[in-house]
Parts: sequence; C-alpha cells; structure tokens
Amino acid sequence: MLEPIPSLAELHRMGAAQQPAYPDAGEVSRVLAELRRRPPLVFAGECDELREKVADVAAGRSFMLQGGDCAETFDTVTAANIRNKLRVLLSMAVVLTYAAQVPVLKVGRIAGQYAKPRSRDTETRGATTLPAYRGDAVNALEFSPAARQPDPRRLLDVYNYSAATLNLLRAFVTGGYADLRAMHSWNADFVHNSNVETRYEELADEISRALAFMVACGVDNESFRTVDFYSSHEALLLEYEHALTRIDSRTSTPYNTSAHLIWIGERTRQLDGAHIEFLRHVRNPIGLKLGPNVTAEEAGALVDRLDPDHEPGRLTIITRMGASRVREALPPVIEAVENTGRKVAWVCDPMHGNTFEAATGYKTRAFSQVADELNGFFDVHEALGTWPGGVHVELTGDDVTECVGGVGDLAEADLANRYETACDPRLNRNQSLELAFLIADRLTSGRIKRVNPVQEFQAEDF
Ligand code: PEP
Ligand code: CO
Repeated sequence: MLEPIPSLAELHRMGAAQQPAYPDAGEVSRVLAELRRRPPLVFAGECDELREKVADVAAGRSFMLQGGDCAETFDTVTAANIRNKLRVLLSMAVVLTYAAQVPVLKVGRIAGQYAKPRSRDTETRGATTLPAYRGDAVNALEFSPAARQPDPRRLLDVYNYSAATLNLLRAFVTGGYADLRAMHSWNADFVHNSNVETRYEELADEISRALAFMVACGVDNESFRTVDFYSSHEALLLEYEHALTRIDSRTSTPYNTSAHLIWIGERTRQLDGAHIEFLRHVRNPIGLKLGPNVTAEEAGALVDRLDPDHEPGRLTIITRMGASRVREALPPVIEAVENTGRKVAWVCDPMHGNTFEAATGYKTRAFSQVADELNGFFDVHEALGTWPGGVHVELTGDDVTECVGGVGDLAEADLANRYETACDPRLNRNQSLELAFLIADRLTSGRIKRVNPVQEFQAEDF
C-alpha cells in the first residue's frame, strides 16, 4: 500500500531542484487552490492501460515511440501545429509497425511539456543578467525583466493549453484522422523530393494494397481507423504536478492526472531529492532519464525506490548517454537494473547527449550523431540480450532547420533559415522519418531476438 503523498512544504524542505523563485507566495496559493478544483486531464484508468502497454514493451513485445517538442509554447498551440506533430509521429509509427512488424506504443511529448530545467539560473546578455527562461509554464522567452519574472498564473495557462491540445488529439486519433487508409494524405502537402519521401510513399502504397486485401477478405477492423495515443511530459514543477495529483475513487490511490506518463529529468533525479520522493507515490507509469554520469549503484537504488513492488510497466528508463559514450556507459546501467530482477522498458533518447553549438552560435545536433547513439543503443542491447524497447526524440512536424545533416544534408549555414525552437533543436519531419527507417532497419536486421507476432497468432488461434 502506498503511503500518503508528501505535502508541498515537505517536498520544498528537501531542497527541490530546478524550481522557480516566485515573488508572491499568496498568488501561488490562489493559483494552486484553483488548479486543485479543476477536472483531471487524464483518467486513472487510462494510466493503468498505458502501464500494461509499457509492460509489453518491457517484455519485448512492443516498441515505444515517444516524441514531440523540447518545449511546447503557448503561441504554438494551434490546430495546424498539433496536427503536424501528430502526423509525423503516426507516420513514424506506421514505418515501424509495417517495416519492422512490431506493435508501436505511441506517446507524445505533448499537452504539458511546458517547463524546462536549466543548467544556469540566470542568463547574461551584455551588461544585463536576468532569470533564465524556464519554459512558458514559468516565464516568457523575451529577454526583459518583466518577461523573465516567474509568474504562477502561467500554471493555469499550462492547464488550459494542455486541455485544448489533448482535446484535439483525442478527436484526431479517434475521429478518423488516424485512419491508416488516409496515410497518403498525412504527407500530401509536402514536397516529395527525397529518398525518405519515396521510401515512405512506396510503403504507403504497399500498406494500401494490404489493407484493400484484408477488407476484400472481410476484415474491417476498428484498429485501422483509430490509434491509441498517450500524453507525457517532464514532471518538473512540483506545484503544478502536486495540484493535479488526485486520489482515484476506484482504488483510493494517487494518480498524477496532468499526463498519462510523466518522467523525471536527468537534473532532478537525485535519490533523496523531492522529485523522486513525490513521484514514487503516484501510480502512473514513470519515466526516468539517465545520463552518462549515473553509476550502476545509483541506477539500482533509483529503480528500487521508484518501483518497490517490481510492477510490470511501472518504469521506463530513458537513457541519453551521448554518441561517444553510449557503448561504454550503457551496459553497466542495464546490468545493474536487470540484476534487481526487474523488467523495465529501455528507451533511447539520442538527442540530449548530442547537443553542441554551431560556429554560427545556434544550439544544434547532428543527425549522424543521433543515428550513432541509436546504433550504439541497439548494439549494446543486442550484446546483452535485452530488448531495445523504444526511442524518445525531440521533433516537430514542420520543415524547420534546427539539426544538421540527415536526408536534406542540412548545413550549419542553413540553420538560420527556419530555427524556431524555444529550447533544444528538433528533428524536422524528413529527419524524423529517416530516423524511423533507420530504427526499422535495425529492428529487422535479424540479430535481435523478438517475439514474432505471426507465430504468436498461429499459436493462439489454431
Ligand atoms: C528534456 O528531455 O528536454 C531534457 C531536459 O532532458 P534531460 O533531463 O535528459 O537532460
Ligand atoms: Co530538450
């Protein structure tokens, strides 16, 4: 049985990392009182359903695709933007499902990804030093004293924008937009001029034929029309996450109702820290980011703390080691966690260990390094006999120019053309699709032991 959730005061006494310094405590209390009255954004039953699906990933029966912006912003909550992100994720999922013949669990970094941990509390430009931008949940990106002042009323905006985003996503994924027979149209308004596009179009043609065959045989399954899609974000701001944590009436246990899956970031995963203490109490499936400096002992202690009952699907470990370190840093972490007897979902974030500053001053990532870390992740899991369970990427559905290389061979000089991120550089639509093909190739390369869905089907049905 879970103990009661710690109070916010208790969590703050633990010296919670990466929290904004709000100037007016009274205003914070008023905002939290209001948030506590608002309805949940997700339901406990949906979180349970997701936990079971994560358990399938952990058991090697499914692959998790988690992706979206580094930082969502209030300004970009538009129908077009949400639709574009959804369709790049759906396109990637179809590539993985069809090319690699593996079920794909789709989780957006969306509908709540508004708060950012920062390596420095302040930012200096010329002679002026101001608080760092911590995401739209906390302050505004503009470099002025007023914009950078943390404002708790923004937490109400986070709730409202998350609700609006989730509402549209729910409509898209159940209302026909995700129908596999429409997959050609997901990309119709893009210029088709790359290898990746051609490969995607060929795959879409093949799928259309396969679907037509199945319909002709009398199979007209609901699963062609709708998909399951879940929300996730970093549970960073304790005020917000605490206010949206509710006791589920069915089970009398606490669920964080701000998203289906929430993760603990690399900068807030201290074993005795407030974030671990808070999140160990909530029943949602939990993600844990681990970087190259985590020790095997720490990794083992963290999973003991977050998953005392060895519950299937409870934990997703998102590793972000960096291309140059993944091959040496990942094996001891996997071994330490496996030695505890747990099966967790192992997911690779090939973005956060591979950020650098281009000569032009833009923060960027090279597609080749992203691919290299992913390949390293697959190599390590193959060598250890564990299942490389998924990928966690920062992407957008638009043709931005934020990461160099990839299919369009984007150069550092191109970064200025369309650099729009509020935080880290994201893969654009073509680079994302290219990554999906790369993963599909690794999953089908034959070296990975995985459950064959057709054999399973035959075994069960005949
Ligand atoms: C992120 O996912 O945006 C992030 C800050 O990652 P990490 O905690 O792994 O550095
Ligand atoms: Co990021």
